[in-house]
Amino acid sequence: MWPRVWQVACTVDHVAEPGDYFEYRCGPNSVLVIRGDDGVLRAFQNVCRHRGNSLCDGSGSGLRELQCGYHGWTWDLSGILKRVPHRKGFGALQMSEFPLIAARVDTWERLVFVNLDANAMPLAEYLEAMPGDIAWCGLGDFRCYATMTIEVDANWKTIADGYSETYHIQTLHPELHRCMDDVYAPQVIWGHTGKSEQLYGLQSPQIKEQLTDSEVWDAYVTTQGALMGVAEDAPFPADRQRPGQSVADVIAEHTKAFATGRGVDLSWATTDQMMRLHQYNVFPNMTLLVNADHLTVMTSHPGPDPDHGELVMILWTRMPPGAPRAKPADVRMKADEAHPGLVLTQDITVLAGIQRGLHQPGLTHLTLSNEERRVINTHRNLERYLDLPEPDRMTGGETP
Ligand SMILES: [Fe+2]
Repeated sequence: MWPRVWQVACTVDHVAEPGDYFEYRCGPNSVLVIRGDDGVLRAFQNVCRHRGNSLCDGSGSGLRELQCGYHGWTWDLSGILKRVPHRKGFGALQMSEFPLIAARVDTWERLVFVNLDANAMPLAEYLEAMPGDIAWCGLGDFRCYATMTIEVDANWKTIADGYSETYHIQTLHPELHRCMDDVYAPQVIWGHTGKSEQLYGLQSPQIKEQLTDSEVWDAYVTTQGALMGVAEDAPFPADRQRPGQSVADVIAEHTKAFATGRGVDLSWATTDQMMRLHQYNVFPNMTLLVNADHLTVMTSHPGPDPDHGELVMILWTRMPPGAPRAKPADVRMKADEAHPGLVLTQDITVLAGIQRGLHQPGLTHLTLSNEERRVINTHRNLERYLDLPEPDRMTGGETP
């Protein structure tokens, strides 16, 4: 499947200037994304056409050419072979027959996608209804400031399934449950892509007792107070709550004021646009979580074996229109070193146990709810890409 799907490699902020490059690794596949001297973004399979050495690793800027570190074959940034040491020894070697092996590359907003399949459908078609659905938000004003790659003891699908349903919130995320609606959380499946919406700033209807405004505020501050720029123990500002204002209104106002501090005008955004999380899933491994002032993209990758994988968090800040990029910081860490906030830490902590459980010989099937229909959709797409026979073992997920 991996050589045939569009996948997020990096962001425009990683490869904004001529000579910027980024090596995207996904399992055994390695793709170089390069901004050429002509300003054109290109992608190549990371391999020397002489003896197969990898050409480059990591990311950086100021690249002028690509020289293999083994025997010195050298390409320009558009992938044309320029130099072969001791070329006579190869006989009649035609330089033009050995360009770098191109991969497809395209951008949507500030995400850079690659696809190893030269005949793949266009990215815009692959993304289906998603770009139109979120067009109101102006994603192009977000800038990536960092990526975090977290090595976990779980398969890439175990990771991706975790961010494809909200059914686990009531149990795994009790704090979050006190400040978001996981019951009226409509989902839609488009094909390769799907969506869930979740409203924040109110208690889950599943919680029987009526929480006070202050309790809902506290839960929000504990789980995502950073989005408002308030301290972890910031009390509910009851004195600033006007008559008729909900907790969500107060949080939205605080978040807008925080954005104003970095020059971002969110006066156009309604409380709903500030507080409703639009969560998109893009097959096979990507989710995009967004509201008017927040964007996080997460992907998962295969690790060295099927019981290990990587969770990649791509972190963004909304900036004033036309803001320059700052080169993102890319960090890598082990699961126990990562502290990406309370909720994600809870998500990561549970992964190793799921992976171990899935190996138990008595477990032959999973039983999924329609709340988990995006999980079902991912696996249906996967079976399709793997050309498996029509999956008669896979049922459920229909709207009740
Ligand atoms: Fe979670």
